Parts: sequence; C-alpha cells; structure tokens
Amino acid sequence: MKIALMGFGTVGTGVEEILYKKRARLRQNNFDLDLAYALIKNKDKKRSPFKKDLIFTDDFEKILSSDVDTVIDVTSSFDETYERIIKLMKAGKNIVTANKAVVSKYFENLNDLARENGVYFAYEAAVAGAIPLIHPLMEEALFNEMTKVYGILNGTSNYILSKMEEEGASYEKVLKKAQDLGFAEADPTADVGGFDAMRKLRILSSLIYNSKINEDAIPTFGIGNIKKTDLDFAKAMGYTIRLLAKSELRDGKINISVIPSFLKDDFFAKTFEATNAIKVWGENFSAYEFKGPGAGKLETADAVIRDLLRILSKREIPAFYDGANSYKLEATRSNKFYLRTSLVPKALKDLIEDEKVIGDDHQIITKKTDFETLRPILSALSDVFVAEIEEEL
Ligand code: HSE
Repeated sequence: MKIALMGFGTVGTGVEEILYKKRARLRQNNFDLDLAYALIKNKDKKRSPFKKDLIFTDDFEKILSSDVDTVIDVTSSFDETYERIIKLMKAGKNIVTANKAVVSKYFENLNDLARENGVYFAYEAAVAGAIPLIHPLMEEALFNEMTKVYGILNGTSNYILSKMEEEGASYEKVLKKAQDLGFAEADPTADVGGFDAMRKLRILSSLIYNSKINEDAIPTFGIGNIKKTDLDFAKAMGYTIRLLAKSELRDGKINISVIPSFLKDDFFAKTFEATNAIKVWGENFSAYEFKGPGAGKLETADAVIRDLLRILSKREIPAFYDGANSYKLEATRSNKFYLRTSLVPKALKDLIEDEKVIGDDHQIITKKTDFETLRPILSALSDVFVAEIEEEL
C-alpha cells in the first residue's frame, strides 16, 4: 500500500521512523507499507528522515493526484486540513488521522464522506495515544448499548497535575517539561483549558451513543488556573485531582462535561504523568478499563500504524456513525463541587457547605448542586478554579 504523510512534526516523524525501521518485518508478513511522500509547509527546513528517498513536497495537488492509497494526517491545522481530507476522500483515498480537532469538529461529515466515497476513515490515534480504544468501542457500538464513558484524556494536564502533586513542582515548570517532551499542543491552551479532552470526549461519545454532540454544549473547565493550595486542599480531604472527561446516557439524555475532579478511586487517581485512563460502561458488561500512554511521538505513531494494518488487511470497520439517536445534552448531574475564588457572590454563598479562607482566597465545598445552577455563578467570576467531587464512580 502506497502512503503519504500530511505533516512531519512529532507524530509524523514517529510514523516515518517505525515504517522505516520495521519495513522488512512488515513486508515478510505481507504488510507492504510504502511511505512515498510527506507534505510539509516549509521546504527549506532541514529534515532528517530515515528513508533517504522520501519525497518532501509543499504541493498538496501532488499528493492528491498521486497513486497513494492512504493519506495519514498528522497536521495540527484545522480548516485547511479538513478541506484537504474532503478532496482526498473524494479522490478515493483512505484517511488515517491523529488530528482530534478536525475529527471532533467534523465527525459527522467525515463519516458521511467516507461512506459516500467507499474509503476508510481511521482515527485511533486521535484519542488516547497508543491505547487501542477507538476500535474496541467501534465494535461495541455495532451490537452493545454503552451507557457511560469517563476518561483522563489529556496527557499534558495529567502530567502537570501528577508532577505538581508528587514533586511539588511549579505549574509553569511542569508545563514547559510537557512541551519539551512533545505531549503538549503547539498552543497548550487546548490542553490546560480542557478543550483537547473535550474534543476527545465528543469523539468517543458520538461514537458510542451514535448521537450528535455539539462541542459548544459540553461544559469544559481545565486546570489552567490551578494552584498548589487546591492540590493541598484535596489531599487533606483524601482526594487527588485529575482532569476528567465524563459522559453518561440515562433516560434518553446525555450528561456530559470536562472538569477537574476530586477522586479517590485507584483507577483514575493512580494515573500518573502523561498516561490516559478510560472506563466504559455497557449493557453487556458492567464496565471495562483502558490505561496507557496518551501522548508522545512513537506512542501516537503506534496507533497510526495499527490503523494502516487494519486498512491493508481489510479489517477496518467501514464508517457507520450517522447520529441517528438525537439524545438531548444536559448538565444536571448532582454532586458537590470545590471552588477557589477571591469573590463570593450571593448565589454562591447560598450553596456553601464548608469554607476555608487563605489570604484572599475562599476554598469552598458546595452542597450538592449541578452545572446548570453553577454556570451563571462561574461565568460571573474571572479568577476561579472549580472541581467536581466524585465520591465514587
Ligand atoms: N496534547 C495532547 C495531550 C496530545 O496532551 O494529551 C495527545 O492527543
């Protein structure tokens, strides 16, 4: 199978490295994966591919009109990449992508296009790095009713939280380390603001519920505002803080959110560094769990290569998502929340169950409430850290 790469950054170079180093072994096993082109933006940049005759081009039309069967998208660009994927699918080329922003935003259209053009649309690498997650869930979605998915889906945030907690390291220092290690996005706002996890949650939830889920309808809070005092407060109560992406289908409605959470359970609370952890509940089993590297060069490339093998051996599941279940989205799940804020408006005062004051900061535990109630309070506060308290999952 002839392949082209779109993008040659962290994940792209990882894909090239594995394909080069394992080419002979793959061939012996009848997986002939021939990486022919890499589409890049800047032709003058010095690159050192393992495959010396890899053709670098900045001309997308060259890839489009080439005889490659499959194009791997490892870009971080958005609309430009989406436009290109449309053209590639229409030209009969399979798409393998690690680009969660594009997969999340255009999930419906990409599935439709793949179906209409009889090509494969594979996105294992877009969610949870090396963990085989999308394919097991795709299979489940064909015959099982899944009711809930919770996950630590952003490696950068988890790296920051666990390093701050374990080593008492500063937020800025560990964020820089995550960037150096290649976990963080070019603009880490997507990581620490919760948007990267939100996109991955949208992909997973759309897939398992076969229902349209708008990104804008997912309440999303990140860890960008965290202080050491928040971790200390949680620890004193016996909790660990992790950024959790959550969705649950009940009575025809989906409760969905991304929010830092106070946790005690071993599975999530004992997830360290850039590891991702996902738990899925379904009709045919109580729950099962996935854990593994959620970001990184070879880790994400690994998932790309598995997609290529599935396509080549025709084991890839054709796109079937059509959003036929129009479940309503809401945020009415009742729980206690932790808020750290210097201002305490009247509506928040009425919700206080417990409160500690350090300097200007009020550390508040609320009575049981829900997002719908908290939303106006949170949007009126400019400097706030919020977390949901999960007694049990
Ligand atoms: N920036 C992402 C993360 C990379 O930290 O999880 C993997 O999607």
